[in-house]
Amino acid sequence: MFLKQFFEEKSSTYTYLLASTQSKEAIIIDPVLSEIENYLDIINEQGFNLLYILETHIHADHVTAASELREKTKAKSIVHKNAHISCADILITDGCVIRFGEYKIEARYTPGHTDACTIYYIEEEGIIFTGDTLLINGCGRTDFQHGSAVQLYQSIHNKIFTLPENTVVYPAHDYRGEKSSTVKKEKQENVRLGEGKTQEEFVKLMQNLNLPYPKQIDIALPLNQTCGQKKDA
Ligand SMILES: [Fe+2]
Repeated sequence: MFLKQFFEEKSSTYTYLLASTQSKEAIIIDPVLSEIENYLDIINEQGFNLLYILETHIHADHVTAASELREKTKAKSIVHKNAHISCADILITDGCVIRFGEYKIEARYTPGHTDACTIYYIEEEGIIFTGDTLLINGCGRTDFQHGSAVQLYQSIHNKIFTLPENTVVYPAHDYRGEKSSTVKKEKQENVRLGEGKTQEEFVKLMQNLNLPYPKQIDIALPLNQTCGQKKDA
């Protein structure tokens, strides 16, 4: 399988381009508008046929490239139905399976960071794209977009920590230059959720993070609710 991880510096966002090297069918997860030329260069260079644009949630820190990418490639955009995004082509729920080439990617609904968070799992490859639900040695905040620390704790424990321990974790962000982790490592060492951390402790910790108001939220959220397309466009 072809897998390329892109990094957008301003919001420290990871985007993933996945493709079947046999059929050339491809998908992209969490594309950032400012980086669209980088994605298209690789897609065109490799002769990929981009089928789907998958969002792990409605982002508050960058503008999605979904609209522009689907105009340029005819790919269909996918988000969880709780996002209430009328511009999306396909609304998914827990357990939906998306196919590209010989691969199946399973959507797992993981509310907590937002109420529309979805992570994507490829069992045959042993990889999971965890969005902002589980970050390397961290997790997404729970104080905006109908977040809930209780739900986040349960989502991570029920939908990620139950996977085989050698499953590779690819998050939507990293602020320290780490590119991936494993279920085993996060289960043992994650400072917020690792071994022995109870739900009660986690909720208390999340309630006392005192994080600043997200810098891009007032720009990014309205735009992402229209799949990244300006309303007058
Ligand atoms: Fe987020």
